[in-house]
Amino acid sequence: MSDKNRVYIFDTTMRDGEQSPGASMSFEEKIQISRVFDELGIDIIEVGFPIASPGDFEAVAAISKILKKSIPCGLSRHTKKDIDACYEALKAAPRFRIHTFISTSPLHMKHKLNKSPEQVIESIKEHVTYARKFTDDVEWSCEDGTRTDIDFMCKTIELAINCGAKTINIPDTVGYSVPSEFKKIIETLLNKVPNIDKAILSVHCHNDLGLAVANSLTGVSAGARQVECTINGIGERAGNASLEEIVMAIKTRNDLMPFKTGINTKLLSKASKIVSNATFPVQFNKAIVGKNAFAHEAGIHQDGMIKNRNTYEIMTPESVGVKQTSLVMGKHSGRHAFKDKLTNLGYSDVTDDIIEVAFGKFKILADKKKHIYDDDILALVDDSLIKKEDNVINLKSLRVFAGTGEPQKADMTLEVYGEIKKASETGDGPVDATFKCIKKLYPHDVNLQLYQVHAVTEGTDAQATVSVRIEENGKTTVGQAADTDTLVASANAYINALNKMIIKRKKTAPQEYGQQKKEYEQQKMKGI
Ligand code: KIV
Ligand code: ZN
Repeated sequence: MSDKNRVYIFDTTMRDGEQSPGASMSFEEKIQISRVFDELGIDIIEVGFPIASPGDFEAVAAISKILKKSIPCGLSRHTKKDIDACYEALKAAPRFRIHTFISTSPLHMKHKLNKSPEQVIESIKEHVTYARKFTDDVEWSCEDGTRTDIDFMCKTIELAINCGAKTINIPDTVGYSVPSEFKKIIETLLNKVPNIDKAILSVHCHNDLGLAVANSLTGVSAGARQVECTINGIGERAGNASLEEIVMAIKTRNDLMPFKTGINTKLLSKASKIVSNATFPVQFNKAIVGKNAFAHEAGIHQDGMIKNRNTYEIMTPESVGVKQTSLVMGKHSGRHAFKDKLTNLGYSDVTDDIIEVAFGKFKILADKKKHIYDDDILALVDDSLIKKEDNVINLKSLRVFAGTGEPQKADMTLEVYGEIKKASETGDGPVDATFKCIKKLYPHDVNLQLYQVHAVTEGTDAQATVSVRIEENGKTTVGQAADTDTLVASANAYINALNKMIIKRKKTAPQEYGQQKKEYEQQKMKGI
């Protein structure tokens, strides 16, 4: 296969993906995600929008120092301040990319930018040229490309290439295009822009009509050689094209799409898990990485699978890193076997501290649960990866009285800012009583947007993974926790989301954080 068929994978999980409600990631989560992405073989990682917040800047700067193979990239609007911030954040990396963009559709130019087409042309000249002062790896995007006049688009692209852009990205910003139209756009650009051979053409498709992957693949078949996508398809509104779907479609239907990516597909499942732990759960029937993606329930399918796997399986679970759930270890298994197991499950890079914490939890679980499966172990490690030292709130104990007749009641002990506090509350069900205790012990005013329970494995003794999403003044955080006791997992997931919100307040609005901390201290003194 020649190089002309190599498709570059540009991941924007930590930039466009993070723009989706509930998907904001902490600094530590971004570091962990970047390490996995680097190992996964992603060519370019759009790490963030450095001018957007000090948090974004800090993450881009830190990740630029740790990536071994992937090229870090920062996003900038057409302003010198944005481009300077990108450079400052990225400059420690041996190679880096600056991605700069401006809208080119009549609608956006008039109503969003209040600029004429001539002013947009001037801006391209000025800002692509400026970005090139810092690196020869400049990407330029025409935002709302699919609603842009095609002749105007050709003109802007020719100019951006003349000013030094090496990658030209065509975004379907609002997910409006369909494959036949998108194909025509890419073909027209390749035929009409005279200097197009000096740049790589890229596609960036949103999923508002559920066509992001189809449009991206059509773009590649028409000649694009970079795809912008996200793990689990997260992103603005309905999301971006899903990285795992694009990569596996190319791999599985290589007869029709003879392209090659640099992705080690066996790490897709791991990448999906690490992203969903930091953001939100993946739907069960999600292609490639959903819990049911390789499950066969119907008897007729199971029968076919036993006779020949190809009857109902177009790719193997192993090819995306999904191991068949296997009975693995019991309470007599030691630390060494546990560590080996983690390495086999793709967690070769977790620190000894995390292994120690996870191993402690494994021993407790092994006392409670007869069979421990791979998924149980993964849930334990994921839970242990949640950083506990920065937590303001920690669960010390929980007792819940549930059942018919009496109102459900929870007794809880929490550590809040280092102080031990106790409360008892009744509620409309045990979860309500549990959450009311948390609210009493740490008064707060957030909206609970999502409460979701998943069983990690089968059986009534299965661990539950609980996800909770909360919102405060437009900011959202997601908390997750696992335990064989669903209510303990629920309390920990809610507390995890609150701890993340407290960290977020501290970073994004330190004054607000200080005020809330003061209010909390005052309430404490009044004995509330
Ligand atoms: O969707 C979009 O247009 C974008 C650009 C910034 C590339 O995300
Ligand atoms: Zn986008």
